[in-house]
Amino acid sequence: MNVLRLALLASHGGTNVQAILDACAKGDIKAEPVLVISNNSTANVVNRARQAGIKTLHLSSTTHPNAVVLDNAIRRALQDSDVDLVVLAGYNKRLGPSTVSAYRHRILNIHPGLLPKYGGAGMYGLRVHQAVLDNDETESGATVHLVDEEYDHGPTIAELRVKVLPGDSPETLSERIKTREHELYVDVLRRIAAGEIELPAR
Ligand code: GRF
Repeated sequence: MNVLRLALLASHGGTNVQAILDACAKGDIKAEPVLVISNNSTANVVNRARQAGIKTLHLSSTTHPNAVVLDNAIRRALQDSDVDLVVLAGYNKRLGPSTVSAYRHRILNIHPGLLPKYGGAGMYGLRVHQAVLDNDETESGATVHLVDEEYDHGPTIAELRVKVLPGDSPETLSERIKTREHELYVDVLRRIAAGEIELPAR
């Protein structure tokens, strides 16, 4: 079987990206990260990728003010690097239709909450955890799902659940979930690369 070629898209610190790069380097995920794209040229994820010797690209509304041109540039960058699977890890932009349709069922995202209840436009970062606390939920979690044209909408591939503890703040809940996210995302990618999870046809 050919080694799966991964692109990772992220906007910020990139702790999930780091966990995935480390797991690929150790051979736990039988995949090769070939490209990291960020819409934020100063994001720490860019340093992480450079340190790992992986090609980085800054593609954003700054580099490409026209949304259609940006969408095409992202799609072309993925295709030029022969990417098989696109991994969104804290990427805070919606991908355009050209990229989504060229990589139908081959784009994954991790969301720091349970879907569909805690997803959708405006539901990101600490806002997710605040909403969970406001609703007095006893459980929260994280979800890996396929990406389609809508925010946090494609089919769920895997999720984890954690208990909401008395006295939790959005920050403590976020922190507890984040550590587990790394394990979840690495495990999902390991299983996809090993053929244990079969993604729908493209
Ligand atoms: C994670 O909580 C992820 O669920 C969300 O964005 C955050 C990214 O964190 N989509 P990091 O940059 O991987 O540390």
